[in-house]
Amino acid sequence: MAQVLKGIDWETFQQLRGSEKKEYFTRDEGIFHIIMSQQFDRKLLDEICELTTKIRGISKGNKGVAFLQSLLQGKRAMLYFVQPSTRTFLSFMAACQVLGMQCSEVRDTTTSSEMKGESQEDTVRTFSSYVDLIVMRHPQAGFAERIAFLLNQTRRPVPVINAGSGKDQHPSQALLDIYTLHRSFENYGGIDGKRIAFVGDLKRGRTVRSLAYLLRNYADVKIYFVAPKELQMGEDLKEYLQEQSVEFEERGNLKEVIPKVDAVYMTRIQDEYDEAGESKRIDYSAYYFKKEYLKILPPNAIIMHPLPRRAELPPEIDQDKRAIYWRQVRNGMWVRVSLIAQIFRKDKDIKDY
Ligand code: NCD
Repeated sequence: MAQVLKGIDWETFQQLRGSEKKEYFTRDEGIFHIIMSQQFDRKLLDEICELTTKIRGISKGNKGVAFLQSLLQGKRAMLYFVQPSTRTFLSFMAACQVLGMQCSEVRDTTTSSEMKGESQEDTVRTFSSYVDLIVMRHPQAGFAERIAFLLNQTRRPVPVINAGSGKDQHPSQALLDIYTLHRSFENYGGIDGKRIAFVGDLKRGRTVRSLAYLLRNYADVKIYFVAPKELQMGEDLKEYLQEQSVEFEERGNLKEVIPKVDAVYMTRIQDEYDEAGESKRIDYSAYYFKKEYLKILPPNAIIMHPLPRRAELPPEIDQDKRAIYWRQVRNGMWVRVSLIAQIFRKDKDIKDY
C-alpha cells in the first residue's frame, strides 16, 4: 500500500483528512506507521487490547520471556526524542528490549549534525539507514507525519511511531489509555456507553486530543471537557466529534461533573507552550482533583492521568483503588510491545504461542 504515496505530493497529502491518510500508514493490509489516532478503527483497537493481554501472560514465565525476545532479535530501533520524556522514552526502550531489539537514541540535537546545518529531514533519513524502526517525539506537530511520508518514497521505508508531536497528538499514549479503560470496564460492559471527563489544559494537551479521537470507535460514549475557558478543547477536535456523532459537553466546574462519570482523565497545565506567560493568569487550582472528591466519585469510576503530574493530582489519593494512573504507566510498556509486534507482523506468532 505504501507505494501509492509515490503518486501524491506533500501538499496534496496534507489536504487529506486523517481517515484518508490511513492507507498511507498501512502496508499489505496491516499497520506500518503509527502517526495519528484517526488511523485506528474498532477492529484494530480490539486486536491491540487482546494482543497486549496475551503478551502480558506470556511474559510471566521464563520460556515466554525467551520466546518474546527471539521475535525481533537482530532488529534495531532509533529513539529520536527531542522533547523531554521519562515514561514514553523508557517504556518504548523497554518494549523494544522485551522483543529482543537493540536501541539507539538521539535526545539532544546539539550533539548531532543538525548543528552543522543539516536539515531535520536529512538527519532522520540518515539514521533510518541504520535501523528498522524510528520512534520520535518532536515539538512540531506534523513532523512525524512528514518523515513517514518522506520515508515511504525511499527504497527502504522504515516504520515511524509518533511518540508525541507538539500540542497535536500522542497516539501510543491514547492506545495505552484505551487498554486501561478496556481492562477497567471489562466486567462493566466495556468502554461502550461510558462517560469520560477530560480535565485541565485541553487546548494544548496532546494526550487528551489523541484519546478523544479514539473514543469515536465506541458506542454511546459521552465526553465532558472540563477546563477554564482559555484552555478549552480546540474547535477542530470538537468538529470532528460532531461529525462522528460523539456526544460531548463543555463544562467549567469539575465538582459538578465528578458524580456523573465513569472515568476522570486529569492533566497538568502545559505551560511549556506559553507564548507570553499566559498560564500564570489562569486559576488552574479549580481543576485540581481534591481529596474530598473521592466521596462523590462513583464507586466503579476510575481516575486517570498520563503523568507527569503536578498539584492537580495530590499523592494522597494514590491509595484509593480507583486511582489507576500507575497501572497506566505499566500498561504503556505492554501496549508498546504489542504495537511494535504488530508493525513487524509478529502478532500471529504471539497468538499461536
Ligand atoms: C504526556 C505528554 O508528553 O504529552 N506525558 C506522557 O507522555 N505520558 C503528558 C504531559 O506531558 O503532560
